[in-house]
Amino acid sequence: MVAVGPGRPSRDARQDRADAFVFFGATGDLAYRQIFPALAGLIRDEGFDLPIIGVARHGDTDALRRRAHESLAEHGFKDGEATRKLVDGLTFVRGSDDDAETFYALRRELGKTRHPLHYMAIPPALFGAVVDNLQASGCARGARIIAEKPFGHDLDSARALNEEIHRVFAERDIFRIDHYLGKEPVQNLLYFRFANLFLEPIWNRDYLSSVHINMPEAFDVADRGAFYDAAGAIRDVIQNHLLQVVSLLAMEPPSGHMPEATRNEQFKVVDSIRPLSPADVIRGQYRGYCEVEGVAPDSTTETFVALRLNVNTRRWAGVPFYIRTGKSLPVTATEVRVEMKRPPQLPFGERRPPDADYFRFRLTPDMSISLGARAKKPGEAMVGEAVELYAAHESPDVRPPYQRLIGDAIRGDQSLFAREDWVEAAWRVVDGVLDGRTPLYEYEPGTWGPQEADEVLVHGDRWLDPQVGPSVPVGRASARSAR
Ligand code: BG6
Repeated sequence: MVAVGPGRPSRDARQDRADAFVFFGATGDLAYRQIFPALAGLIRDEGFDLPIIGVARHGDTDALRRRAHESLAEHGFKDGEATRKLVDGLTFVRGSDDDAETFYALRRELGKTRHPLHYMAIPPALFGAVVDNLQASGCARGARIIAEKPFGHDLDSARALNEEIHRVFAERDIFRIDHYLGKEPVQNLLYFRFANLFLEPIWNRDYLSSVHINMPEAFDVADRGAFYDAAGAIRDVIQNHLLQVVSLLAMEPPSGHMPEATRNEQFKVVDSIRPLSPADVIRGQYRGYCEVEGVAPDSTTETFVALRLNVNTRRWAGVPFYIRTGKSLPVTATEVRVEMKRPPQLPFGERRPPDADYFRFRLTPDMSISLGARAKKPGEAMVGEAVELYAAHESPDVRPPYQRLIGDAIRGDQSLFAREDWVEAAWRVVDGVLDGRTPLYEYEPGTWGPQEADEVLVHGDRWLDPQVGPSVPVGRASARSAR
């Protein structure tokens, strides 16, 4: 054993840190929108100083540097010093993912570095070729790999992909990224649930009647037509982001000291969800979608989905989990609303109020937690009104999800990445409703999707449209009348 002074990393810890960052798909959309700003943020906030190498089919080092510069300017990144370090430090390897020579050139570029982190910001169909070539060229030795979502196209292809990657990388070196897990309000779901004792006694089928997860987006597929048309809403956000949210909402408290404790519980939730059947799902497509560039003129890809999940555990059996998401809907927001059962009797002779009590967690664009309840209206009569206890949280210095997750992957921390078993279980949930196995309904842009979405509701439930609530000052809680 080597004694290590306070604050100094042990030899193992130092070895565990990646010492170079390579990204495939360097000239692509994801690099432009997320990876450059994340890397610049890591340079600014954590003194990140690894060699950064971009790989793509076209371009050269100067073009890549210009693109990084433009990306940072467009995303409002203000730190001149960090910008300069990122841009000047970037190097480029031109070549394709299935060309062995490209990878020997990459190996030369990696020089003496021994623990590269390779980010596959490319379609999953190309992952296999990259992994094989990384191995053949020696670039996989001592390395880790980040795989961008979607991880596979369905259950079979995800299994095949896992097998393919495992031929070269051990599970502890594979980082399947889902940026939702890097979002502060999503992590807060986990924290809030288990840090507060008052929630646990009621967080179950005895006290809760339904769980709603809404992720409407007011924008359309814009310039992502080709990508989106091959995916659709179920593959794009249900199989990953929204099932992760379900996992965190429904999991049992993690116990034990192992870093895997939380991921074990997340897995158990998805594993216990009954696979979806066509009766649980309504798909929609906004009018005009087929005219978007890159979309097939007769496309049957869904831009909207409404579904009902059954989490078949002792805690949740019989509580419907509703998920609704889509493009070109009236607002952009992600919100969880957990509805409580009603009191068994109303002691004050009041009529049954229209709303049940609820917890509301706003995940995007702002972060807030509210408790919807009834309070007495001022006056002599024992008559109440719906109010909301509302706590908004504004943390301007919170690190964007990609920055946080890439930083974790560099340090070798897998806690916020999807594990192999979770990914396959999530595909198992959606596998039976992929690829047009359910009817498709058209909806007008700017509406809440097709009327048929109501068909997935049970027990007289209704869709609960997220509203964009007024913010209250940081850290303060307030009460206001609910709608
Ligand atoms: C991405 C999807 O993974 O997540 C997009 O491909 C979606 O279609 C996006 O709009 C939503 O994430 P965020 O962080 O912008 O709310």
